[in-house]
Amino acid sequence: MIVCSCNVLTKRNILDVAERLAMEQPGRPITPARIYRALGTKAQCTLCFALVRKLIAESGLLVTCPEPLGSGSEDEYDPAAFG
Ligand code: FES
Repeated sequence: MIVCSCNVLTKRNILDVAERLAMEQPGRPITPARIYRALGTKAQCTLCFALVRKLIAESGLLVTCPEPLGSGSEDEYDPAAFG
């Protein structure tokens, strides 16, 4: 299942990295921007961010930030995460 079509990332790509990040820094929220940085890529349209958060939350193993109010696609602003 392709989750991010801009970067051609699958659900497995995202959850594998999210699990690794959670082991490296337990308790630190896993955000889409952290995952994309760890994968060596950058968010482009950010339309996938809501789905990435949902997958992380549903994995039951990881901590993610709640969905921002009024937005389905914004993460904390990090200029380095955008191409
Ligand atoms: S679909 Fe993921 S950045 Fe565009």
